[in-house]
Amino acid sequence: PETGCLSIIVLGASGDLAKKKTFPALFNLYRQGFLQSNEVHIFGYARTKISDDDLRSRIRGYLSRGKENEGEVLEFLQLIKYVSGSYDSGEGFTLLDKAISEHEFSKNSTEGSSRRLFYFALPPSVYPSVCRMIKSYCMNKSDLGGWTRIVVEKPFGKDLASSEQLSSQIGELFDEPQIYRIDHYLGKELVQNLLVLRFANRFFLPLWNRDNIDNIQIVFREDFGTEGRGGYFDEYGIIRDIIQNHLLQVLCLVAMEKPVSQKPEHIRDEKVKVLQSMLPIKDEEVVLGQYEGYKDDPTVPNNSNTPTFATMVLRIHNERWEGVPFIMKAGKALNSRKAEIRVQFKDVPGDIFRCQKQGRNEFVIRLQPSEAMYMKLTVKKPGLEMSTVQSELDLSYGQRYQGVVIPEAYERLILDTIRGDQQHFVRRDELKAAWEIFTPLLHRIDNGEVKPIPYKPGSRGPAEADELLQNAGYVQTHGY
Ligand code: BG6
Repeated sequence: PETGCLSIIVLGASGDLAKKKTFPALFNLYRQGFLQSNEVHIFGYARTKISDDDLRSRIRGYLSRGKENEGEVLEFLQLIKYVSGSYDSGEGFTLLDKAISEHEFSKNSTEGSSRRLFYFALPPSVYPSVCRMIKSYCMNKSDLGGWTRIVVEKPFGKDLASSEQLSSQIGELFDEPQIYRIDHYLGKELVQNLLVLRFANRFFLPLWNRDNIDNIQIVFREDFGTEGRGGYFDEYGIIRDIIQNHLLQVLCLVAMEKPVSQKPEHIRDEKVKVLQSMLPIKDEEVVLGQYEGYKDDPTVPNNSNTPTFATMVLRIHNERWEGVPFIMKAGKALNSRKAEIRVQFKDVPGDIFRCQKQGRNEFVIRLQPSEAMYMKLTVKKPGLEMSTVQSELDLSYGQRYQGVVIPEAYERLILDTIRGDQQHFVRRDELKAAWEIFTPLLHRIDNGEVKPIPYKPGSRGPAEADELLQNAGYVQTHGY
Protein backbone atom coordinates (compact mmCIF):
# COMPACT_ATOMS: atom_id res chain seq x y z
CA PRO A 1 0.00 0.00 0.00
CA GLU A 2 1.01 3.58 -0.63
CA THR A 3 2.31 5.56 2.28
CA GLY A 4 2.68 9.23 2.95
CA CYS A 5 0.26 11.95 3.54
CA LEU A 6 -3.40 11.46 2.77
CA SER A 7 -5.80 14.39 2.78
CA ILE A 8 -9.49 13.67 2.51
CA ILE A 9 -11.48 16.76 1.67
CA VAL A 10 -15.24 16.56 2.19
CA LEU A 11 -16.84 19.29 0.10
CA GLY A 12 -20.31 20.16 1.34
CA ALA A 13 -19.21 19.19 4.84
CA SER A 14 -22.21 20.65 6.62
CA GLY A 15 -24.78 18.93 4.40
CA ASP A 16 -26.86 15.82 4.93
CA LEU A 17 -24.89 13.33 2.86
CA ALA A 18 -21.64 14.31 4.58
CA LYS A 19 -23.09 13.99 8.07
CA LYS A 20 -25.07 10.83 7.52
CA LYS A 21 -22.80 8.88 5.19
CA THR A 22 -19.37 10.34 4.49
CA PHE A 23 -18.08 11.17 7.97
CA PRO A 24 -19.51 8.02 9.60
CA ALA A 25 -17.88 5.92 6.86
CA LEU A 26 -14.55 7.68 7.43
CA PHE A 27 -14.90 7.13 11.16
CA ASN A 28 -15.46 3.42 10.70
CA LEU A 29 -12.44 3.18 8.43
CA TYR A 30 -10.43 5.00 11.06
CA ARG A 31 -11.58 2.67 13.83
CA GLN A 32 -10.61 -0.34 11.80
CA GLY A 33 -7.12 1.01 11.21
CA PHE A 34 -7.48 1.88 7.52
CA LEU A 35 -6.80 5.55 8.15
CA GLN A 36 -3.64 6.08 10.16
CA SER A 37 -3.59 9.19 12.27
CA ASN A 38 0.06 9.84 11.40
CA GLU A 39 -0.83 10.03 7.70
CA VAL A 40 -4.38 11.21 7.30
CA HIS A 41 -6.07 14.51 7.72
CA ILE A 42 -9.70 15.28 6.96
CA PHE A 43 -10.85 18.68 5.78
CA GLY A 44 -14.44 19.84 5.71
CA TYR A 45 -15.24 22.58 3.23
CA ALA A 46 -18.53 24.44 2.83
CA ARG A 47 -19.94 27.93 2.59
CA THR A 48 -21.19 28.22 6.16
CA LYS A 49 -18.82 30.15 8.39
CA ILE A 50 -18.24 27.87 11.36
CA SER A 51 -15.26 26.79 13.42
CA ASP A 52 -13.48 23.41 13.46
CA ASP A 53 -15.25 22.63 16.71
CA ASP A 54 -18.66 23.59 15.33
CA LEU A 55 -18.21 21.10 12.52
CA ARG A 56 -16.97 18.43 14.93
CA SER A 57 -19.99 18.82 17.17
CA ARG A 58 -22.37 18.70 14.18
CA ILE A 59 -20.88 15.39 13.08
CA ARG A 60 -20.42 13.85 16.51
CA GLY A 61 -23.97 12.52 16.88
CA TYR A 62 -23.82 10.59 13.59
CA LEU A 63 -20.69 8.59 14.36
CA SER A 64 -22.22 6.11 16.71
CA ARG A 65 -22.74 2.49 15.78
CA GLY A 66 -22.79 1.42 19.39
CA LYS A 67 -19.42 -0.27 19.85
CA GLU A 68 -16.97 2.59 19.64
CA ASN A 69 -15.56 4.24 22.69
CA GLU A 70 -15.53 7.91 23.44
CA GLY A 71 -11.73 8.08 23.08
CA GLU A 72 -11.84 6.87 19.47
CA VAL A 73 -14.49 9.40 18.61
CA LEU A 74 -12.45 12.25 20.06
CA GLU A 75 -9.27 11.11 18.32
CA PHE A 76 -11.11 10.94 15.03
CA LEU A 77 -12.70 14.35 15.45
CA GLN A 78 -9.27 15.84 16.09
CA LEU A 79 -8.26 14.80 12.57
CA ILE A 80 -10.91 17.10 11.11
CA LYS A 81 -10.35 20.73 10.21
CA TYR A 82 -12.81 23.08 8.61
CA VAL A 83 -12.33 25.69 5.90
CA SER A 84 -15.16 27.85 4.67
CA GLY A 85 -15.53 29.36 1.23
CA SER A 86 -17.75 29.42 -1.80
CA TYR A 87 -17.78 26.83 -4.57
CA ASP A 88 -16.81 29.19 -7.33
CA SER A 89 -14.23 31.60 -6.02
CA GLY A 90 -10.49 31.15 -5.90
CA GLU A 91 -10.26 32.66 -2.45
CA GLY A 92 -11.77 29.75 -0.55
CA PHE A 93 -9.89 27.14 -2.52
CA THR A 94 -6.62 28.99 -2.01
CA LEU A 95 -7.24 28.79 1.73
CA LEU A 96 -8.13 25.13 1.40
CA ASP A 97 -4.93 24.39 -0.51
CA LYS A 98 -2.94 26.23 2.14
CA ALA A 99 -4.51 24.15 4.90
CA ILE A 100 -3.86 20.90 3.02
CA SER A 101 -0.27 21.88 2.21
CA GLU A 102 0.50 22.78 5.81
CA HIS A 103 -0.66 19.35 6.82
CA GLU A 104 1.40 17.72 4.10
CA PHE A 105 4.55 19.54 5.06
CA SER A 106 4.10 18.75 8.73
CA LYS A 107 3.66 15.03 7.99
CA ASN A 108 6.16 14.82 5.18
CA SER A 109 9.16 16.07 7.08
CA THR A 110 10.86 12.77 6.27
CA GLU A 111 9.35 11.41 3.07
CA GLY A 112 6.01 10.62 1.52
CA SER A 113 3.59 11.63 -1.12
CA SER A 114 0.71 14.03 -1.47
CA ARG A 115 -2.52 12.11 -1.88
CA ARG A 116 -5.63 14.27 -2.14
CA LEU A 117 -9.10 12.81 -2.22
CA PHE A 118 -11.93 15.26 -2.87
CA TYR A 119 -15.30 13.88 -1.86
CA PHE A 120 -18.18 15.82 -3.45
CA ALA A 121 -21.07 15.77 -0.98
CA LEU A 122 -22.57 18.50 -3.14
CA PRO A 123 -25.40 19.12 -5.56
CA PRO A 124 -24.26 18.29 -9.11
CA SER A 125 -25.01 21.85 -10.26
CA VAL A 126 -21.75 22.96 -8.62
CA TYR A 127 -19.62 20.01 -9.83
CA PRO A 128 -18.18 21.87 -12.86
CA SER A 129 -17.14 24.97 -10.92
CA VAL A 130 -15.72 22.91 -8.02
CA CYS A 131 -13.72 20.84 -10.49
CA ARG A 132 -12.30 24.01 -12.01
CA MET A 133 -11.37 25.33 -8.58
CA ILE A 134 -9.63 22.11 -7.56
CA LYS A 135 -7.78 21.98 -10.85
CA SER A 136 -6.64 25.60 -10.51
CA TYR A 137 -5.79 25.73 -6.82
CA CYS A 138 -5.74 22.39 -5.06
CA MET A 139 -3.97 19.70 -7.07
CA ASN A 140 -1.44 17.51 -5.30
CA LYS A 141 2.07 18.86 -5.16
CA SER A 142 3.86 17.16 -7.98
CA ASP A 143 7.25 17.39 -6.28
CA LEU A 144 5.88 15.11 -3.56
CA GLY A 145 4.32 12.61 -5.97
CA GLY A 146 1.00 10.99 -5.22
CA TRP A 147 -2.34 11.82 -6.79
CA THR A 148 -5.54 13.87 -6.80
CA ARG A 149 -8.86 12.04 -7.10
CA ILE A 150 -12.46 13.19 -7.06
CA VAL A 151 -15.45 11.22 -5.83
CA VAL A 152 -18.82 12.20 -7.25
CA GLU A 153 -22.30 10.82 -6.86
CA LYS A 154 -25.55 10.85 -8.77
CA PRO A 155 -27.59 12.52 -10.06
CA PHE A 156 -25.29 12.79 -13.06
CA GLY A 157 -27.64 14.88 -15.17
CA LYS A 158 -31.29 14.22 -15.94
CA ASP A 159 -31.00 12.60 -19.33
CA LEU A 160 -28.43 11.64 -21.93
CA ALA A 161 -27.69 15.18 -23.10
CA SER A 162 -27.33 16.76 -19.66
CA SER A 163 -25.28 13.85 -18.38
CA GLU A 164 -22.94 14.01 -21.36
CA GLN A 165 -22.54 17.72 -20.84
CA LEU A 166 -21.57 17.17 -17.21
CA SER A 167 -19.22 14.34 -18.16
CA SER A 168 -17.41 16.48 -20.69
CA GLN A 169 -17.12 19.42 -18.31
CA ILE A 170 -15.51 17.16 -15.72
CA GLY A 171 -13.61 15.20 -18.36
CA GLU A 172 -11.85 18.33 -19.62
CA LEU A 173 -10.28 18.77 -16.20
CA PHE A 174 -9.77 15.25 -14.88
CA ASP A 175 -8.80 11.98 -16.50
CA GLU A 176 -11.01 8.94 -16.09
CA PRO A 177 -8.65 7.22 -13.57
CA GLN A 178 -9.03 10.28 -11.31
CA ILE A 179 -12.85 10.21 -11.35
CA TYR A 180 -14.76 7.90 -9.00
CA ARG A 181 -18.50 7.87 -9.77
CA ILE A 182 -20.17 6.29 -6.77
CA ASP A 183 -23.20 4.05 -7.02
CA HIS A 184 -23.47 2.82 -3.47
CA TYR A 185 -25.28 -0.36 -4.52
CA LEU A 186 -21.94 -1.53 -5.89
CA GLY A 187 -20.62 -1.41 -2.34
CA LYS A 188 -23.25 -3.79 -0.93
CA GLU A 189 -21.98 -7.19 0.17
CA LEU A 190 -24.32 -9.29 -1.92
CA VAL A 191 -23.88 -7.14 -4.99
CA GLN A 192 -20.12 -7.63 -4.69
CA ASN A 193 -20.77 -11.33 -4.32
CA LEU A 194 -22.54 -11.63 -7.68
CA LEU A 195 -19.48 -12.22 -9.82
CA VAL A 196 -18.07 -14.77 -7.41
CA LEU A 197 -21.37 -16.57 -7.30
CA ARG A 198 -21.72 -16.66 -11.05
CA PHE A 199 -18.18 -17.40 -12.12
CA ALA A 200 -16.78 -19.48 -9.28
CA ASN A 201 -19.58 -22.04 -9.09
CA ARG A 202 -20.07 -24.90 -11.46
CA PHE A 203 -23.75 -25.08 -10.45
CA PHE A 204 -24.61 -21.87 -12.18
CA LEU A 205 -22.41 -21.92 -15.25
CA PRO A 206 -24.57 -24.14 -17.48
CA LEU A 207 -27.90 -22.86 -16.20
CA TRP A 208 -27.43 -19.11 -16.46
CA ASN A 209 -29.05 -18.50 -19.83
CA ARG A 210 -32.25 -18.33 -21.88
CA ASP A 211 -32.50 -22.11 -22.16
CA ASN A 212 -33.08 -22.48 -18.43
CA ILE A 213 -34.10 -19.14 -17.00
CA ASP A 214 -37.62 -17.89 -17.63
CA ASN A 215 -37.42 -14.41 -16.15
CA ILE A 216 -35.38 -12.33 -13.74
CA GLN A 217 -36.72 -9.72 -11.33
CA ILE A 218 -34.67 -7.01 -9.70
CA VAL A 219 -36.71 -5.39 -6.99
CA PHE A 220 -36.30 -2.41 -4.69
CA ARG A 221 -39.01 -1.52 -2.19
CA GLU A 222 -39.08 1.07 0.53
CA ASP A 223 -41.74 1.32 3.18
CA PHE A 224 -41.39 5.08 3.50
CA GLY A 225 -42.07 7.98 1.17
CA THR A 226 -39.87 10.86 0.12
CA GLU A 227 -39.66 12.21 3.69
CA GLY A 228 -38.40 15.75 3.42
CA ARG A 229 -36.64 15.07 0.10
CA GLY A 230 -39.74 15.82 -1.98
CA GLY A 231 -38.12 18.78 -3.70
CA TYR A 232 -35.16 16.74 -4.93
CA PHE A 233 -37.21 13.68 -5.67
CA ASP A 234 -39.85 15.42 -7.70
CA GLU A 235 -37.27 16.63 -10.18
CA TYR A 236 -35.94 13.12 -10.68
CA GLY A 237 -38.51 10.43 -9.89
CA ILE A 238 -38.00 6.76 -9.12
CA ILE A 239 -36.48 5.81 -12.49
CA ARG A 240 -33.64 8.32 -12.20
CA ASP A 241 -33.32 7.83 -8.44
CA ILE A 242 -33.14 4.03 -8.33
CA ILE A 243 -33.63 2.14 -11.59
CA GLN A 244 -31.27 3.91 -14.01
CA ASN A 245 -28.39 3.46 -11.56
CA HIS A 246 -28.76 1.07 -8.61
CA LEU A 247 -30.95 -1.59 -10.25
CA LEU A 248 -29.30 -1.30 -13.64
CA GLN A 249 -25.88 -1.86 -12.09
CA VAL A 250 -27.20 -4.99 -10.43
CA LEU A 251 -28.67 -6.13 -13.73
CA CYS A 252 -25.29 -5.71 -15.43
CA LEU A 253 -23.61 -7.97 -12.91
CA VAL A 254 -26.38 -10.56 -13.23
CA ALA A 255 -26.34 -10.55 -17.03
CA MET A 256 -22.76 -9.86 -18.12
CA GLU A 257 -20.44 -12.37 -19.73
CA LYS A 258 -17.41 -13.61 -17.86
CA PRO A 259 -14.74 -10.91 -17.88
CA VAL A 260 -11.22 -11.70 -19.05
CA SER A 261 -9.99 -11.17 -15.50
CA GLN A 262 -10.93 -9.43 -12.29
CA LYS A 263 -9.34 -6.20 -13.47
CA PRO A 264 -11.69 -3.21 -13.22
CA GLU A 265 -11.42 -2.45 -16.93
CA HIS A 266 -12.24 -6.01 -17.92
CA ILE A 267 -15.29 -6.07 -15.67
CA ARG A 268 -16.53 -2.71 -16.82
CA ASP A 269 -16.03 -3.64 -20.48
CA GLU A 270 -18.48 -6.51 -20.01
CA LYS A 271 -21.01 -4.35 -18.17
CA VAL A 272 -21.02 -1.83 -20.99
CA LYS A 273 -21.74 -4.60 -23.51
CA VAL A 274 -24.87 -5.59 -21.58
CA LEU A 275 -26.10 -2.01 -21.62
CA GLN A 276 -25.38 -1.63 -25.29
CA SER A 277 -27.34 -4.80 -26.07
CA MET A 278 -30.52 -3.50 -24.45
CA LEU A 279 -33.62 -3.10 -26.64
CA PRO A 280 -35.74 0.06 -26.41
CA ILE A 281 -38.26 -0.02 -23.56
CA LYS A 282 -41.84 -0.44 -24.76
CA ASP A 283 -44.56 1.75 -23.20
CA GLU A 284 -46.81 -1.29 -22.83
CA GLU A 285 -44.14 -2.91 -20.67
CA VAL A 286 -44.04 -0.03 -18.19
CA VAL A 287 -46.33 0.62 -15.23
CA LEU A 288 -45.80 3.80 -13.25
CA GLY A 289 -47.32 4.71 -9.91
CA GLN A 290 -47.48 7.63 -7.53
CA TYR A 291 -48.49 7.10 -3.92
CA GLU A 292 -51.48 8.97 -2.61
CA GLY A 293 -50.36 11.84 -0.40
CA TYR A 294 -47.08 12.36 -2.29
CA LYS A 295 -48.29 15.77 -3.47
CA ASP A 296 -49.15 16.87 0.08
CA ASP A 297 -45.46 17.63 0.52
CA PRO A 298 -45.26 21.43 0.17
CA THR A 299 -42.09 21.12 -1.93
CA VAL A 300 -43.91 18.97 -4.53
CA PRO A 301 -46.04 20.77 -7.16
CA ASN A 302 -49.78 19.97 -7.06
CA ASN A 303 -49.81 18.72 -10.63
CA SER A 304 -46.70 16.55 -10.33
CA ASN A 305 -46.50 13.68 -12.79
CA THR A 306 -43.43 12.20 -11.11
CA PRO A 307 -43.49 8.44 -10.55
CA THR A 308 -42.65 7.15 -7.07
CA PHE A 309 -43.10 3.59 -8.34
CA ALA A 310 -42.18 1.87 -11.58
CA THR A 311 -42.21 -1.65 -12.95
CA MET A 312 -40.79 -2.22 -16.39
CA VAL A 313 -39.41 -4.95 -18.56
CA LEU A 314 -35.90 -4.64 -19.96
CA ARG A 315 -34.75 -6.94 -22.72
CA ILE A 316 -31.22 -7.84 -23.68
CA HIS A 317 -30.67 -8.67 -27.31
CA ASN A 318 -27.86 -11.20 -27.21
CA GLU A 319 -27.24 -14.90 -27.47
CA ARG A 320 -27.53 -15.55 -23.74
CA TRP A 321 -30.64 -13.54 -22.94
CA GLU A 322 -32.82 -13.17 -26.02
CA GLY A 323 -36.45 -13.53 -24.87
CA VAL A 324 -35.76 -13.41 -21.12
CA PRO A 325 -37.55 -10.48 -19.47
CA PHE A 326 -35.60 -8.57 -16.84
CA ILE A 327 -38.32 -7.09 -14.70
CA MET A 328 -37.19 -4.00 -12.81
CA LYS A 329 -39.37 -2.87 -9.98
CA ALA A 330 -38.82 0.02 -7.60
CA GLY A 331 -41.13 1.92 -5.33
CA LYS A 332 -41.41 4.19 -2.34
CA ALA A 333 -44.12 4.04 0.33
CA LEU A 334 -44.79 0.33 -0.24
CA ASN A 335 -45.61 -2.44 2.22
CA SER A 336 -42.02 -3.46 3.00
CA ARG A 337 -38.36 -2.49 2.69
CA LYS A 338 -36.45 -4.97 0.62
CA ALA A 339 -34.04 -5.26 -2.27
CA GLU A 340 -33.69 -8.59 -4.01
CA ILE A 341 -32.91 -10.43 -7.22
CA ARG A 342 -35.21 -13.31 -8.19
CA VAL A 343 -34.06 -15.65 -10.90
CA GLN A 344 -36.96 -17.84 -11.95
CA PHE A 345 -36.23 -21.00 -13.89
CA LYS A 346 -38.42 -22.58 -16.53
CA ASP A 347 -40.82 -25.41 -15.80
CA VAL A 348 -39.40 -28.94 -15.77
CA PRO A 349 -40.37 -30.57 -19.06
CA GLY A 350 -42.36 -33.83 -18.83
CA ASP A 351 -42.99 -33.43 -15.11
CA ILE A 352 -44.12 -36.78 -13.71
CA PHE A 353 -44.88 -35.46 -10.24
CA ARG A 354 -47.35 -32.86 -11.41
CA CYS A 355 -45.80 -30.52 -8.92
CA GLN A 356 -45.60 -27.47 -11.02
CA LYS A 357 -48.57 -25.83 -9.41
CA GLN A 358 -46.42 -25.54 -6.30
CA GLY A 359 -43.88 -23.58 -8.13
CA ARG A 360 -40.80 -23.34 -10.21
CA ASN A 361 -37.21 -23.38 -9.14
CA GLU A 362 -36.22 -19.94 -8.09
CA PHE A 363 -32.92 -18.55 -6.90
CA VAL A 364 -33.32 -15.50 -4.69
CA ILE A 365 -30.54 -13.15 -3.62
CA ARG A 366 -31.66 -10.77 -0.92
CA LEU A 367 -29.44 -7.69 -0.84
CA GLN A 368 -31.20 -6.22 2.19
CA PRO A 369 -32.36 -6.36 4.88
CA SER A 370 -30.76 -9.52 6.34
CA GLU A 371 -28.48 -10.55 3.50
CA ALA A 372 -29.34 -14.02 2.26
CA MET A 373 -29.59 -16.25 -0.74
CA TYR A 374 -31.87 -19.19 -1.13
CA MET A 375 -32.91 -21.68 -3.76
CA LYS A 376 -36.51 -22.68 -3.93
CA LEU A 377 -36.78 -26.25 -5.01
CA THR A 378 -39.20 -29.15 -5.02
CA VAL A 379 -38.61 -32.02 -2.60
CA LYS A 380 -40.56 -35.03 -1.47
CA LYS A 381 -42.80 -34.04 1.36
CA PRO A 382 -41.40 -35.90 4.38
CA GLY A 383 -43.72 -38.68 5.46
CA LEU A 384 -45.40 -41.80 4.16
CA GLU A 385 -47.12 -40.21 1.20
CA MET A 386 -45.30 -39.75 -2.08
CA SER A 387 -46.08 -36.12 -2.58
CA THR A 388 -44.00 -33.04 -3.25
CA VAL A 389 -43.50 -29.71 -1.58
CA GLN A 390 -41.53 -26.52 -2.23
CA SER A 391 -38.63 -26.02 0.14
CA GLU A 392 -35.41 -24.01 0.27
CA LEU A 393 -31.69 -24.39 0.44
CA ASP A 394 -30.97 -21.35 2.50
CA LEU A 395 -27.82 -19.34 3.16
CA SER A 396 -28.67 -16.58 5.58
CA TYR A 397 -25.65 -14.47 6.37
CA GLY A 398 -26.83 -13.64 9.89
CA GLN A 399 -26.73 -17.35 10.77
CA ARG A 400 -23.89 -18.59 8.64
CA TYR A 401 -21.52 -15.71 9.36
CA GLN A 402 -22.47 -14.91 12.92
CA GLY A 403 -20.38 -12.15 14.38
CA VAL A 404 -19.06 -10.99 11.02
CA VAL A 405 -19.74 -7.30 10.59
CA ILE A 406 -20.82 -6.55 7.06
CA PRO A 407 -19.30 -3.20 6.09
CA GLU A 408 -21.43 -0.28 5.01
CA ALA A 409 -21.37 0.34 1.27
CA TYR A 410 -19.82 3.79 1.66
CA GLU A 411 -17.04 2.50 3.89
CA ARG A 412 -15.95 -0.02 1.32
CA LEU A 413 -16.21 2.35 -1.60
CA ILE A 414 -14.25 5.13 0.09
CA LEU A 415 -11.52 2.63 0.90
CA ASP A 416 -11.45 1.66 -2.79
CA THR A 417 -10.99 5.30 -3.79
CA ILE A 418 -7.98 5.55 -1.48
CA ARG A 419 -6.54 2.32 -2.85
CA GLY A 420 -7.19 3.36 -6.43
CA ASP A 421 -9.50 0.47 -7.30
CA GLN A 422 -12.19 1.52 -9.77
CA GLN A 423 -13.89 -1.84 -10.13
CA HIS A 424 -16.95 -0.79 -8.15
CA PHE A 425 -17.32 2.61 -9.78
CA VAL A 426 -19.21 3.63 -12.88
CA ARG A 427 -17.14 4.40 -15.95
CA ARG A 428 -18.10 7.25 -18.26
CA ASP A 429 -19.17 5.03 -21.16
CA GLU A 430 -21.25 2.94 -18.76
CA LEU A 431 -23.06 6.03 -17.54
CA LYS A 432 -23.72 7.14 -21.10
CA ALA A 433 -25.09 3.75 -22.10
CA ALA A 434 -27.35 3.74 -19.02
CA TRP A 435 -28.85 7.08 -19.99
CA GLU A 436 -29.34 5.95 -23.56
CA ILE A 437 -31.65 3.19 -22.33
CA PHE A 438 -33.91 5.39 -20.23
CA THR A 439 -33.88 8.79 -21.89
CA PRO A 440 -36.68 8.20 -24.45
CA LEU A 441 -39.03 6.87 -21.74
CA LEU A 442 -38.07 9.65 -19.31
CA HIS A 443 -38.83 12.28 -21.92
CA ARG A 444 -42.24 10.72 -22.55
CA ILE A 445 -42.95 10.82 -18.81
CA ASP A 446 -41.70 14.40 -18.51
CA ASN A 447 -44.03 15.39 -21.37
CA GLY A 448 -46.98 13.78 -19.61
CA GLU A 449 -47.38 11.07 -22.29
CA VAL A 450 -47.00 8.26 -19.75
CA LYS A 451 -48.76 8.84 -16.46
CA PRO A 452 -48.43 7.30 -13.02
CA ILE A 453 -51.34 5.38 -11.50
CA PRO A 454 -52.21 6.34 -7.89
CA TYR A 455 -51.59 3.70 -5.21
CA LYS A 456 -52.15 3.55 -1.49
CA PRO A 457 -49.11 4.09 0.72
CA GLY A 458 -48.27 0.82 2.44
CA SER A 459 -49.62 -1.27 -0.46
CA ARG A 460 -47.86 -3.42 -3.09
CA GLY A 461 -48.17 -0.58 -5.60
CA PRO A 462 -50.62 -0.46 -8.53
CA ALA A 463 -52.30 -3.79 -9.35
CA GLU A 464 -51.35 -3.22 -12.99
CA ALA A 465 -47.72 -3.88 -12.01
CA ASP A 466 -48.57 -7.40 -10.86
CA GLU A 467 -50.38 -8.00 -14.15
CA LEU A 468 -47.31 -6.85 -16.05
CA LEU A 469 -45.23 -9.27 -14.01
CA GLN A 470 -47.52 -12.16 -14.89
CA ASN A 471 -47.63 -11.19 -18.54
CA ALA A 472 -43.85 -11.22 -18.55
CA GLY A 473 -44.02 -14.85 -17.41
CA TYR A 474 -43.42 -14.67 -13.68
CA VAL A 475 -45.22 -17.44 -11.79
CA GLN A 476 -45.98 -16.81 -8.15
CA THR A 477 -44.82 -19.77 -6.07
CA HIS A 478 -46.59 -21.11 -3.04
CA GLY A 479 -46.19 -23.67 -0.36
CA TYR A 480 -42.92 -22.85 1.27
C1 BG6 B 1 -30.46 6.56 -2.78
C2 BG6 B 1 -31.75 7.17 -3.22
O1 BG6 B 1 -29.54 6.55 -3.83
O2 BG6 B 1 -30.68 5.23 -2.35
C3 BG6 B 1 -32.78 7.13 -2.10
O3 BG6 B 1 -31.55 8.51 -3.62
C4 BG6 B 1 -32.91 5.73 -1.54
O4 BG6 B 1 -34.04 7.59 -2.57
C5 BG6 B 1 -31.54 5.13 -1.23
O5 BG6 B 1 -33.70 5.80 -0.38
C6 BG6 B 1 -31.66 3.66 -0.88
O6 BG6 B 1 -30.43 3.17 -0.43
P1 BG6 B 1 -30.38 1.89 0.52
O7 BG6 B 1 -28.93 1.59 0.63
O8 BG6 B 1 -31.04 2.28 1.78
O9 BG6 B 1 -31.16 0.83 -0.20
